[in-house]
Amino acid sequence: MGSAASSSGTEERTVAERRAKTAVIGVGLIGEQHAEAYQSNPRADLTMVCDLSADRAKSVGERLGVASTASLADIANSDVEIVSVATPDHAHYESVMAMLEAGKHVVVEKPIATITKEAKAMVELAEAKNLKMTVNLGNRWNPNYLSIRDSVQSGEIGDPVMTYSKTSDTIWVPRTMLSWAGKSGPQWFLFAHTMDMVRWILGQEALEVYAIGQKKILKSEGIDAFDAIQALVRFENSFATFETSWIVPEAYPHIVESQLTINGSTGRLNFEGATQGFQISSDTVGKHMYARPSLWTYFKLSPSWWGALHNMVDCVLDGGEPAIAARDGMQVTAMIEAAEISIAEGRSVEIASLLN
Ligand SMILES: NC(=O)c1ccc[n+]([C@@H]2O[C@H](COP(=O)([O-])OP(=O)(O)OC[C@H]3O[C@@H](n4cnc5c(N)ncnc54)[C@H](O)[C@@H]3O)[C@@H](O)[C@H]2O)c1
Repeated sequence: MGSAASSSGTEERTVAERRAKTAVIGVGLIGEQHAEAYQSNPRADLTMVCDLSADRAKSVGERLGVASTASLADIANSDVEIVSVATPDHAHYESVMAMLEAGKHVVVEKPIATITKEAKAMVELAEAKNLKMTVNLGNRWNPNYLSIRDSVQSGEIGDPVMTYSKTSDTIWVPRTMLSWAGKSGPQWFLFAHTMDMVRWILGQEALEVYAIGQKKILKSEGIDAFDAIQALVRFENSFATFETSWIVPEAYPHIVESQLTINGSTGRLNFEGATQGFQISSDTVGKHMYARPSLWTYFKLSPSWWGALHNMVDCVLDGGEPAIAARDGMQVTAMIEAAEISIAEGRSVEIASLLN
């Protein structure tokens, strides 16, 4: 009896102490932070970093004290369980598919892909191989957005009617920060966040997109990307306008400019990125309040921006599915591709036409 209890105690301790082995592919600006996030997680061991640039992989590996490689095969053939893919927007597919083929669980940066067919292939391979896959959408762990979602889903503004979402970057981002800006655009870089956010807050799927965009100013600087896009999206029970720009002047005091306004049947909610607070106004419950008392409590639950990575570690060790499904990433890729087709062809595009 005593020995059975102690052996089961040992087993429990072994299970509790097991750490997930992790690796990161693409250790640029963001991938390096994935690597740091895994190193900061007491339940994870960062074992290897990989980059197309062997020099980059080596310098990050040396700084963090882990192995480095320029070959995907080295990670595929290792005993790593979770791999983050943080290569540029257009370059997620090859690494994600190679890692899934090798039986790894995958955390991929947003957007999951820039072609819906590729997103679908990734999701289907992960599901077929029973592997966990998630998208790093840090805003899902942002206390502001968590509170906004709670507010909307608990009916504080009634039924959502019309949403306005704007997230833009200063021109410094395509001009200086991203070496691959001409292979992406504000739609992939920013709609990937905002379109996911609005679907998640409303709890509704997008059905149809009509969009207009301009390619002029960045193009004149040799960057083949949209300057700005406005997309009108029909959701199941409401509609939304999404705006994004990559030409906000560098003089603007923040790199990112963002606003989210949701007009509901009995109230209105407004969030400003610059102040990180939000207002809720409702005649029904007679209140106009700025921010919410609960705003910061979420920080105690999960480290904010790297929540998807920590969530994956917990899922791999404890079982369960990631909070952000890879299918969410696929839906958002279809929304953005629909916007691109709409701009090119001057017509509205049904999301389902891209997913079938
Ligand atoms: N979640 C967020 O808030 C957030 C913020 C910024 C960027 N991102 C996303 O992170 C991803 C990376 O962006 P970044 O700003 O770190 O870019 P980056 O250019 O700084 O880094 C990309 C790295 O990937 C490497 N790379 C390129 N192709 C590769 C390949 N095939 N295999 C291995 N390595 C390869 C490059 O050498 C580079 O070191 C993008 O998808 C971007 O949209 C997410």
